Amino acid sequence: MDIAFTVNGVARTVDAPPTASLLDVLRNRLGLMGTRYGCGLEQCGSCVVLVDGAPAHACTREIGTLAKRSVMTVEGLGTADRPHPIQQAFLDEQAGQCGYCLSGIVMSTKALLDRNPNPSRADIVTALDRHLCRCGTHQRILRAVERAASALRGAA
Ligand code: FES
Ligand code: FES
Repeated sequence: MDIAFTVNGVARTVDAPPTASLLDVLRNRLGLMGTRYGCGLEQCGSCVVLVDGAPAHACTREIGTLAKRSVMTVEGLGTADRPHPIQQAFLDEQAGQCGYCLSGIVMSTKALLDRNPNPSRADIVTALDRHLCRCGTHQRILRAVERAASALRGAA
């Protein structure tokens, strides 16, 4: 079954079973390896991408639901040479150890700051509640989100 949707602003068509997961399609058919597989059960948040601007678990989202929808992955934000201000803030705060969780956390941060440019610490904790970081860098992650919010407000 052909499914046409947009990924990081580019129109894509994939031939996949409608029950295939978005995560499978992103990683194994489109070669976008930035989105991570953790639990496969909506319990860790490592697979989170944006669908029409809202966080979604790519591990359980079926590709058949995504016709004409718009998906953004971490590859749609910035590059190693030109990181997005959110990615730069995570670098500046040294917020990752293994980094496995961070693609999902960065995407949830993007959704948060798009709708709320000046979140409180409680707002950030709530927005990131779906994410687990096994390395324990939580305090640095929270500081990184605050730093990113400040940077984006300054750039606006
Ligand atoms: S891999 Fe999707 S929530 Fe864990
Ligand atoms: S930095 Fe290792 S899981 Fe989050």
